[in-house]
Amino acid sequence: MGGTIQPTTGVIGTATLPQGLRGDYDRARPDGTLPDTVIERSEADHATWRTLVARQRAIYPGRAASAWLEGLDRLRCDQMVPTLERASAILRAATGWSLVPCPGLLPDAQFFALLAKRRFPVTHWIRKPEELDYIVEPDIFHDFLGHVPLLTQPDYADFLEAYGHLGLQAEKRGQLAPLARFYWFMVEFGLIAERGGLRAYGAGILSSRTETLHALSDTPRRLRFDMVRVLRSAYRIDDVQPVYFVIRDYAELYAAIGEAPALLDAAMATNPIPPGGRAAGDQDWGC
Ligand SMILES: [Fe+2]
Repeated sequence: MGGTIQPTTGVIGTATLPQGLRGDYDRARPDGTLPDTVIERSEADHATWRTLVARQRAIYPGRAASAWLEGLDRLRCDQMVPTLERASAILRAATGWSLVPCPGLLPDAQFFALLAKRRFPVTHWIRKPEELDYIVEPDIFHDFLGHVPLLTQPDYADFLEAYGHLGLQAEKRGQLAPLARFYWFMVEFGLIAERGGLRAYGAGILSSRTETLHALSDTPRRLRFDMVRVLRSAYRIDDVQPVYFVIRDYAELYAAIGEAPALLDAAMATNPIPPGGRAAGDQDWGC
């Protein structure tokens, strides 16, 4: 089993939740969020958070994207499990986004509707100390540390709202499979080319020690981002990724959302490329 976790707080591609989840689903409101304004944390929770952040911080230099690192610094959340209220104040001033607590996995419609309103759902609970390296469901460490830093970046912030609107449309049209691939590769496992070289910005990479080391090692394939290719690319959820896609800037993601409606039908009608498989027209990205 690799170091990755389930991709996202949204369960893209499913209308119902799997059984056996550990979040507090009984108290969720119709929009999927929890009513809590204050969430009590134990000292053990804070210690787990500090350990997780310190482990990741040690391997970020030369691997994490500069805008993502700047966002992490602005959030000043290294020492304690962050409060969503304080982080939301920072995000509102930067890009108009805010954070809302949720039990964990959300059905598609709720997830997309929140994104479309610039509200990012963050799971309320944190993993146990014995789960530092692997967890099946997303927790606050994945959701917050992985996703929130880049919500301070304006182009990325605009992109994720647009993704929410597109998701609502695609759900009605039964086109979620290719859109889930786009989220997987470009939100959870995206790489960006910076002046100093390739860097990771994807939440599934940067919240996982194993994936952070793997994604920028010599092992995986890295391809130039191509929307048609991504929409056709199947992925695996039980191990590190065999292939990653590289963008040049975050505005590329926003532009891709504009192109997507015209591409989704074709992607639905084509057999997916297997995880790590090759396709005509692949543009390999040098290290
Ligand atoms: Fe995620």
